[in-house]
Amino acid sequence: MSAAVIIVAVDGAAGSGKSTLARGLAQRLGVAYVNTGLMYRAVAAASIARGVDLDDAEGLVDLARGLRFRLEGDDPPTLEVEGYVPVDLTTPGVESRVSLVARHPVVRSVLRDQQRTLGATGAVMEGRDIATVVFPDAPLKLFLRADQMRRVDRRADERDADTNVVRDALERRDARDARTTPLEPAPGAIIIDTSDLSIDQTLDEALGAARRVWPERR
Ligand code: C5P
Repeated sequence: MSAAVIIVAVDGAAGSGKSTLARGLAQRLGVAYVNTGLMYRAVAAASIARGVDLDDAEGLVDLARGLRFRLEGDDPPTLEVEGYVPVDLTTPGVESRVSLVARHPVVRSVLRDQQRTLGATGAVMEGRDIATVVFPDAPLKLFLRADQMRRVDRRADERDADTNVVRDALERRDARDARTTPLEPAPGAIIIDTSDLSIDQTLDEALGAARRVWPERR
């Protein structure tokens, strides 16, 4: 992939700081911010609303095909799912279903096609398979990791939820996700351990890496 197109793939575990970093980086680089987790979450939310069974791969594919994704706003243009506001996509029901939706290869295939379209003209894209599968030739790949305890604390803060409940949900999701997509850095990915880094320090590291790839972007 030509480095003329700014595509940054940000992979990592839930609570590793992907979203905060990806949004900030997109803003600084002047490209779209695409949180691909929202796409899987929207299928999970739709499956609840429409009563589609989590083993019904074709039913879930139909739901995925029926969703409309778009980039809204600027600074940065951000992925939105028509008909869903962010709180619809972080309910406990969605949290407990999303990995079971994401385990179906046919669902992944439909969403990955959409992701490639959304990112084609430049984006910071986050997910757990963006650098390994969706954009393996992205000029910049970042892999975020963080201690389990830090990840749980961050998620609990973000969701204003009880730490024990968050820990259980995260462990269950991690175990299911690991069976679908091994969480491994893609070849050539820059690994950032965010356990002891502030949001600004993480962004500075990522911006440093971006400036080495795109020196003309200040
Ligand atoms: O990143 P986020 O926590 O919002 O992702 C929610 C879930 O969506 C993940 O736990 C995973 O099951 C699925 N997902 C995925 N591939 C992606 C993004 C998310 O399988 N690229």
